[in-house]
Amino acid sequence: MQLEFTCNGRPVRMQADGSMRALDLLRDLLGLTGTKEGCGRGECGACTILVDGSPVNACLLYAAKLQGRAVLTVEGLAKGEVLHPLQEAFLEEGAVQCGYCTPGLLLSSKALLDRVPHPTDPEIEQALSGNLCRCTGYAKILKAVQRAADRAGRGDGTSRRGREAGR
Ligand code: FES
Ligand code: FES
Repeated sequence: MQLEFTCNGRPVRMQADGSMRALDLLRDLLGLTGTKEGCGRGECGACTILVDGSPVNACLLYAAKLQGRAVLTVEGLAKGEVLHPLQEAFLEEGAVQCGYCTPGLLLSSKALLDRVPHPTDPEIEQALSGNLCRCTGYAKILKAVQRAADRAGRGDGTSRRGREAGR
């Protein structure tokens, strides 16, 4: 089928088998390998992408369902060399260890902060309940999301470290 959607703000037009998984389309056809496959059956959240701003497990989504939608993958979070505040906060709080869960956690966190700019810990836990992490114990992830929310509240959408990373 002819598939048209936007991915990370850019229009995509391609021929694809609409019955393939969105996860495979993104990774294998578009080369966006930041989206990870863990369980492959909707249980771990490693494959989380945002579709029209909502978190979706790309391993359970037919590619055809991307038609006309706006897709965000982890590759679309940073602006050039400037990290997204959530990415910066995850690094600062040590919320990244093996990193396999991180793309999905970042995207679920972004969806939450877009909806609830200053979430409580239970709200964060609820929003991230579909994203499993075997390494961090979640405390650092919670702190990272709170840190990003604080930073956004101060209007500091980018970080100096992120900006300097491009030099
Ligand atoms: S790989 Fe999709 S939920 Fe685990
Ligand atoms: S950092 Fe390893 S699974 Fe989360």
